[in-house]
Order: sequence, then C-alpha cells, then structure tokens
Amino acid sequence: MTDCLLPSKTWRWMAWACLLLLLLVTVLSAFLRHRAEGLGCQPWPGCLAAGTAASGVVEALARGAHRVAATAVLGLAIGLLVLALRARPSLRREAGLSALLLLMALLLAWLGVHTTGSRAPAVALGNLLGGFLMVSIAARLLAPPDRRGLGPVALGVALLLVAQAAGGALVSASHAGLACDALRGCADQAAAAGWPWAALKPWVGAGLLPGDGALLQLLHRAGAWVTAPALAALGLLALRRGRRAEGAALLALLAAVLALGLVLGSSGLPLAAVLLHNLGSALLLAAVVRLV
Ligand code: HEM
Repeated sequence: MTDCLLPSKTWRWMAWACLLLLLLVTVLSAFLRHRAEGLGCQPWPGCLAAGTAASGVVEALARGAHRVAATAVLGLAIGLLVLALRARPSLRREAGLSALLLLMALLLAWLGVHTTGSRAPAVALGNLLGGFLMVSIAARLLAPPDRRGLGPVALGVALLLVAQAAGGALVSASHAGLACDALRGCADQAAAAGWPWAALKPWVGAGLLPGDGALLQLLHRAGAWVTAPALAALGLLALRRGRRAEGAALLALLAAVLALGLVLGSSGLPLAAVLLHNLGSALLLAAVVRLV
C-alpha cells in the first residue's frame, strides 16, 4: 500500500468485488423472496394459499449462494475498514463508509436470522432498502469522483427514489402486483374500497383485500410520475456538470426500470422482469448516491 490508499490495486479490487457480490446478493435475495411467495405459480397469489410455494433444488442452490456471497461481503467490509484505518494519511471518508457497510451487513444478518419465514411486508422492506443502501455505499467506495457532487439536489432525488423503491417493495410484499393494471383502474378500485390507507402499514401482513392492493399500486405508479422526471432532470444536470458516467448510467437505468415496470403491469409479473426491475432500481440508487 502506498502513502495514499485509494490508488492501491488491493483497495480497488476489494471495492469492486464487494459491489459485484452485493448486486448478486440483491438479486438472489429478491429471487428467494419471490419464490417463497410463490410468484410464477398459477393462479397467483391464490396458489400460495394452497401451499404451492416453490422449495426445490434451484432454491436450495440460490440460498447457499446467497449465504456464501453475503459472508464474503462481510469479510470484504472488514478488510476495507482495516485498510482505510491503516492508511497514511488517514482516509476518514472511506473508513466511515466501510464501517457503515459493516454495520448494515451485521444488521441485515440479524434481521435474516430473527425473521426467517416471516411474511410481514416490513421485513421485505427492511431487506430490500438495506440491500439497496449497501449497494450505494459500495458504489461510493469504488473511487472518489474526480469532480464535485451535486449536493442537496442529488440527496433530495435519492430520498425520493428510496420512497419509490419502498412503495414498490410494499406492492410486492403485499401480493398487490396484479391488483390492477392502469393508473385510472387502480384509482377506481381504491376509491370503491373507501381509500383503505391502513394498507400502508408494513407490519399488517400479506393477504390484503383487492382494494388495498389497488391503493398500493396506485401510489407506486403515481410515484413514478414524480420520481422519474426528478431522476431525468438529475441525469441531465450530471451530464452538464461533467459527471458523464453517472449521468448516462442514470438515464439509461431510468429508461430500463420504467420499461420493466410497464412490462410487469401488463404481463402477469414474469419473475425475470421483476428481478431486473429490482436490480435496475438498486443500480439507479447507486448512480444517484454517487452524485451526492
Ligand atoms: C422510478 C421508477 C420505479 C422504481 C424505482 C421502482 C421500483 C420498484 C421496486 C424496488 C420494486 C420492488 C421489487 C421487488 O420486490 O423485488 C417494485 C415493484 C413493482 N413495480 Fe416498480 N418502480 C418504478 C416504476 C414502476 C412503474 C412505472 C410501474 C408500472 C407501471 C411499476 C410496477 C411495479 C410492480 C407491478 C411491482 C410489484 C412487483 C411484484 O409484485 O413483485 N414500477 N418497483
């Protein structure tokens, strides 16, 4: 290691490995959650009540791979923290981010152990948002950007995006993905059910009434009308301020996430599209967080 740690090959290798493993963990964790919820069985979600949720060889392999990858992330987070603390001159920013990464890894491991088998949306929400945050931290650890960030503007958009992702996780964990397939229809159904705001309580649990699911979908779809323009504006601003890589990535990812969202709504929730919608959102948050 040289005087300054960041150009070190070891650091870059470890930070990249951490990011890639976290993306793998994100996809595997969404895969396991959706398979446990029976996504793909017919007619969904009714088939779940009949106990047809999958638990075969593929799920066992995915569970094993998830465990190995998550443990490797924990080891890498410790390694990055040690490197940052030992560096001279001291790397306070990197040490802080690595410590946060380690803390999140321990928190999610604790959540995993203590909530096994739970179907409460709050658990899915915690897992999904915690995983997204870890991906974002790892993306910031890769290397410091060579230009100044976009500060509070990017932070505001990041918070909007977290809220949008949380809304999506709530739709998913409440089995509301097929509750309705257009903004107008969702609004009509939610109104007919008397605007059931209690559906927003993430600890209430799955098995909501159709009107509840329609309200959750309505909020997620309407949220996209606010979040997407904000993301697009941030992407364009990033391009203008010379942050080309993040700006271009943000715009491309936004287009992909929106297109996948439309596919989900119109074609009965194919698992691959659900997973890509999830992964795209994680990467989108990472691109925005790099701009803060
Ligand atoms: C910036 C825009 C968007 C973001 C960041 C976003 C993010 C997300 C996330 C993180 C989830 C949870 C995925 C999971 O549980 O694995 C989700 C679920 C979902 N999203 Fe989006 N979304 C966006 C726009 C849209 C749009 C425009 C639509 C439809 C028109 C849509 C439809 C859905 C549906 C149906 C689900 C539930 C999938 C399921 O049942 O598992 N999303 N979204």
